[in-house]
Amino acid sequence: MKFSELGLSDSLLSAISSSGFEEATPIQAETIPMVLKGEDVIGQAQTGTGKTAAFGLPILQNLDFDNPNVQALIISPTRELAIQTQEEIYRLGKDEKAKVQVVYGGADIRRQINALKSHPQIIVGTPGRILDHISRHTLKLAHIKTLVLDEADEMLNMGFLDDIESIIKQTPEDRQTLLFSATMPPQIKRVGVQFMRDPHQVKIKAKELTTDLIDQYYVRVKEYEKFDTMTRFFDVQDPEVTIVFCRTKRRVDEVSKGLEARGYKAAGLHGDLTQARRTQIMNEFKQGKIDILVATDVAARGIDISGVTHVYNYDIPQDPDGYVHRVGRTGRAGKHGVSITFTTPNEMDYLHEIEKLTKVRMLPLKPPTEHEAFVGQLSNAESDIGELIKKTNTEKYEEMADKLLEEYEATDLVAALLNDVTRDYVKVKITPERPLSRRHHGSGGRGRNNNRHGGGGHWNHRGNSDRNSGRNRGHHSNGGNRERSHKDDHHSGSKRRFTIKNK
Ligand SMILES: Nc1ncnc2c1ncn2[C@@H]1O[C@H](COP(=O)(O)OP(=O)(O)O)[C@@H](O)[C@H]1O
Ligand SMILES: [Mg+2]
Repeated sequence: MKFSELGLSDSLLSAISSSGFEEATPIQAETIPMVLKGEDVIGQAQTGTGKTAAFGLPILQNLDFDNPNVQALIISPTRELAIQTQEEIYRLGKDEKAKVQVVYGGADIRRQINALKSHPQIIVGTPGRILDHISRHTLKLAHIKTLVLDEADEMLNMGFLDDIESIIKQTPEDRQTLLFSATMPPQIKRVGVQFMRDPHQVKIKAKELTTDLIDQYYVRVKEYEKFDTMTRFFDVQDPEVTIVFCRTKRRVDEVSKGLEARGYKAAGLHGDLTQARRTQIMNEFKQGKIDILVATDVAARGIDISGVTHVYNYDIPQDPDGYVHRVGRTGRAGKHGVSITFTTPNEMDYLHEIEKLTKVRMLPLKPPTEHEAFVGQLSNAESDIGELIKKTNTEKYEEMADKLLEEYEATDLVAALLNDVTRDYVKVKITPERPLSRRHHGSGGRGRNNNRHGGGGHWNHRGNSDRNSGRNRGHHSNGGNRERSHKDDHHSGSKRRFTIKNK
């Protein structure tokens, strides 16, 4: 559906097109006209389907710029989501100079209080900090026209229902209430019944659970071979923006540390980390300082990261819906993605359950050999070298370079440097996790009718020419068979690419 058919103003339409959105997603197409009319709406659709703009756009359109009061309040479960929502609405309302302020815990409250004094029309915040500002009288909700409970299921998971009730009680009765969520547990429905007026319920059905923009593969592998197999895939596929999913926190710690030891820019994300550390990791991932995010399902839920090129399921998810959630991190907004699921021999039934749910058959991949991985590394080094030469102030090194070239054969010299930039093999041991228990066919249980994550229907832009860019690249190079050193040294962490000399 075109955005222009939804009753949005020209300035919003132009902001939408500069955001690169071509078509409204199903949840946007259905809810925007209702929200514009001032009606209460309960919107349910899978993560990543554009729910923010579904409420953000009509809120922006309904703002009264002569009114100095806060007119809309959006409650968000986490600081990261609150920031993302603020950024998206700010971007969409920029032409109209809408003021959108975000408030969350763990940040300087003085600064927030000052910002609140400059009359923002829209506030996005986490429950605790909103209540804090209310009790300090630095946030007044008496003139709220629209209240949004965003990612309501996550707020329930995090135990925020009481806080939310307290906040709702501070808002005028005569308000518009919107509730958006990926899933709709009964407690959330009850919030709807209790605090909303004849809400319209919009549920986007899962027509297509995973988009055909994602190439989905599986690799049959023994538990103890997983780590080496995965890093070989990294070397061969050279993935750009990567998420690795693991079943447990311990796994996340061990796998992320193991990857770092082998010289990958990786970091682990799970629920035991402090909020500050999580924010730091997310920022570094977004800035490209970290290439590989290793996460549990819970830690990754709700976080919107754009541009993920590869999802590796180090552990196969227990639950087919979980799979849909995980691989839905890539193949977004018209971009192409790759997913690889490592499956131990007795977990094959789980793989088939997933295939039954998604109606997509995963293609088997053979683990790359050690040699293929090495050739992959060399080929990656080759392209990095080009970049590096461009960045290098050659003059500075000329004298030494000439001297070295006189002393050594050029080939020996380059080979030695290549040895230095390719990764050392560091032995990494990952504590074995018990494989999922064998499931028996026809035993019922997690059937495909058990789709908790109801919504679906990712938009499906085409026209991307990079359809093949993420595929398994066949590296053909005569790099020769080099003996890999099996030493357990400490400086191997610095051996990723040519970054060492770049500091
Ligand atoms: N109509 C659209 N077309 C393309 N991308 C969109 C569209 N609407 C939203 N997006 C983008 O999709 C991503 C996910 O949107 P978001 O609102 O966070 O999803 P949700 O809240 O449903 O999980 C964001 O980067 C957003 O900018
Ligand atoms: Mg959202």
